This record gives sequence, C-alpha cells and structure tokens, in this order.
Amino acid sequence: MRSAASFKLGLSHSADTDSAWKVEAVKQVEYHVIAARNLFSPENTQLLDGCSAAPLTRGDRRLVVIDSNVDRIHGDRIRGYFEHHGVAASFVSMRADETVKEWSSVIRVVDAMNGFGIDRRREPVIAIGGGVLLDVVGFAASVYRRGTPYIRIPTTLIGLVDAGVGVKTGVNYGMGKNRLGTYAPAIATYVDRAFLRTLDDRHLSNGLAEILKMALIKSIDLFELLETYGQRLIDDNFQGTSAELDTAATQVIAESIHLMLEELQPNLWESCLERCVDYGHTFSPTLEMEALPALLHGEAVSIDMALTSALGFLRGSLSSDDLDRILTVMKRLGLPVWNDVLSTAGVLDAALADTVRHRDGRQRLPLPVGIGGHHFANDVTNEEIASALSLLARKNTGLPNGEVSVTKVAS
Ligand SMILES: NC(=O)c1ccc[n+]([C@@H]2O[C@H](COP(=O)([O-])OP(=O)(O)OC[C@H]3O[C@@H](n4cnc5c(N)ncnc54)[C@H](O)[C@@H]3O)[C@@H](O)[C@H]2O)c1
Ligand SMILES: [Zn+2]
Repeated sequence: MRSAASFKLGLSHSADTDSAWKVEAVKQVEYHVIAARNLFSPENTQLLDGCSAAPLTRGDRRLVVIDSNVDRIHGDRIRGYFEHHGVAASFVSMRADETVKEWSSVIRVVDAMNGFGIDRRREPVIAIGGGVLLDVVGFAASVYRRGTPYIRIPTTLIGLVDAGVGVKTGVNYGMGKNRLGTYAPAIATYVDRAFLRTLDDRHLSNGLAEILKMALIKSIDLFELLETYGQRLIDDNFQGTSAELDTAATQVIAESIHLMLEELQPNLWESCLERCVDYGHTFSPTLEMEALPALLHGEAVSIDMALTSALGFLRGSLSSDDLDRILTVMKRLGLPVWNDVLSTAGVLDAALADTVRHRDGRQRLPLPVGIGGHHFANDVTNEEIASALSLLARKNTGLPNGEVSVTKVAS
C-alpha cells in the first residue's frame, strides 16, 4: 500500500482518493555573463577557461552558428582562434535579421545539430551574432533533444546588453513578434564590445534604445551618462579610443547589464507580469511588426518610450522639462521619436489590446515617474493615448529635422 509518507517531498496524493497526485520540484538555474576583451585574439583564453561550467580544451569539437555578416567581417579571425587552440569547429553561417527571424531558421540550426551529432552533455553550441541569431539558436538549442546547452557571443549592442543576458529565446510567427519561443538561458554569455567596431551607427543607436530604457525606469545616473557621452560613444563605436571614452563605454554597458539582471533574476520565468523592463515594449511589438522592415527593434522601443513619456507628462508623473530632456537625448542618440505607422487608424489601441492579452488581462503599463523611476498603470484610456500621440506629433514637428532643441508645449 502507498502512503503519503512513502513519497519523497514534492510528491503527494490526496488522502481520500487514490487518483490525484501533485508533483512539485524546483529546478536550479545558473548562468554566467562575462565581460570579455578581444575574445578571439589568440592569446585570450576566456573561452577556454573563463567559465568553469563551459570549459573548452584542445581536441574538443564544437558547432558554431554565426551570423553571415559577422562571418564575412570577423570569420577568418574566429576560425583562426579555434585552429590555434586545437578545437575542431564546424561553422554554420546563416543570414540573421528580423525578416528571417522565423521557424525555418530554427529548423536550419536543428538540421546542423543533427548533422554534427552533438554530444549534448559536453558540446554546447556556440552562437555568434546579433539578437536575432542569438534568439534563433537559443530556441533551436532549447528544443533540440528537450534542451541542449549553448553559449552566446553577442556582436551587436542589443545583443550585449539585452538579448545576450536574459533567458528568452524565440522567433516571430504570423504577425506576432517572438510568438514562438522558450525560456532557456545560455550557460554563458561573453560580452565583448570589440565587435561593435564594425557595427553601423543605426544599429548602435538601436542598442542604445534598450540602454536608455533601463536608464529611464531605473537610473538617473545612467541617463546622465547617456546625455554626456551617448553621441561620442556612437562616433567611437564603443571602442574606447581615449581613456575617458573607454571608461564611459565600460560604465554604460556594465551598468545597463547590471540593472537588467537585477530585474530579471527574481523573475526569470516572468511569473510576475509587472516587469519594468517591459517599458517601451507595450506598443512597440505591434509597431515593429506593422512597419517591418522599416523600424528596427530599438527604434520601435524608442517611439514607444517617447509616446509613454508624453503620456507620463499628461498624467503628471513627468515634468515638462524632463519630457523635453528625454526627447532630446533620443534625438542625440540617433533614435526616432515618431514614425508614420503611428498614424495608422487604431494601431495603438490594437497594440495595447494585444499586450493586455499577453499580460493576463491587465495593462500593467510601466510609465516613467521622473527620470529614473516608474510605476505601473492599469487604467490608461484610448482617449489618453490619442492625446499623448498628438502631443508627441507636435513635439516632433517642433524638432527641426533631428535638431536637438525641443519646443516646450504647455500642459
Ligand atoms: N531574447 C531577448 O531577451 C531579447 C532582448 C532584446 C532583443 N531581442 C531581439 O533581438 C533582435 C534585435 O537584435 P539586433 O539589434 O542585434 O539585430 P540583428 O540580430 O538583426 O543584427 C543587426 C544587423 O547587424 C548585423 N551585425 C551583427 N553583428 C555585427 C557586427 N559586429 N558588425 C557588423 N554587422 C553586424 C547583422 O547581420 C544584422 O544585419 C530582435 O529580434 C529582438 O526581438 C531579444
Ligand atoms: Zn527589447
């Protein structure tokens, strides 16, 4: 006869019936985000011994999935690194941008894993590329044989500060942004800003949008760093060509990652749907997909933040000066505060409705409280959104073609 006592902790069955069981278990999660410098210089051994959970030794083999643009620019050096250290690396070079962030790309990676015959205990897949490549490979690895370890090496700014540090993977499906995906952290992410040397200004700005997001909701200090150095960091491609810019680049990236991890760690599986890191991500998923490929992810996030800053101002949680300061920094970082997709009838109401479905029936809309603070609203009306939109339109036309000055609008 079974008795409740005979089961281990975590498995119980109802006392008055023999046909109901409850299973409880806790899965320990550990992953590493490691700052690196010139990861693929032959003398750098961080990939070999930088993370005890993912060692790499001479004689090992690895499947490396790499963004084809990164491969074109950095591929020879990366291949040379593996050869130098006696690692037999098999490369899959694939196009990875938002227009191919789709199921067929996942299958391509899965086919490569099959072909390689991965030993899933000892041979983590290595993903090298931007946010799209990391999301696609992470997704493929997480479903291949119910979970295969992988390592992320981001090569874009969004990858370094955002897509590379959390636990989410995924691809778009239909008109849905990241509609298919999993929660599956990489064992390790190596954050090497040397890759940003070859990233164009638009994609640097794109990444700065996610950094600005962290600043607006959590840190006036980070905001002020962006105000002071943002433009120069873009001009310098975050390469630290002077001691001052080197310190600023390190601070901006490290602070952004730290603030992000502080928010993610207690809520890795998003059981709490009030996530301040969703700031800028209420309207933007719909805007991004509607405008595809005109708007990059960070650009859509920037427009969402401009709109919700205007909303915050109209609700009295943000001063007129702070609103102007935010829009000015966006311009200075090369980020849009407006796109004509905003004029599509009903697009913002539809975007909010979709997000509400995603957030279990409530808006849980992060809104700025001053610069560096936030609260969550659940009662924003479509009329308020329309008012915020027309305020933003007036502000935008007050900005003569990307100039820094912002005309003040009375409340
Ligand atoms: N999983 C997450 O938590 C998370 C977080 C934020 C963003 N994302 C996702 O990330 C994606 C955006 O990522 P992204 O901005 O990195 O875009 P991306 O991956 O499309 O890369 C942008 C472009 O830059 C090229 N590129 C990459 N590295 C380069 C380099 N070093 N030099 C020159 N060119 C380079 C790529 O080939 C691509 O054409 C979105 O799909 C978004 O949903 C995911
Ligand atoms: Zn984002």
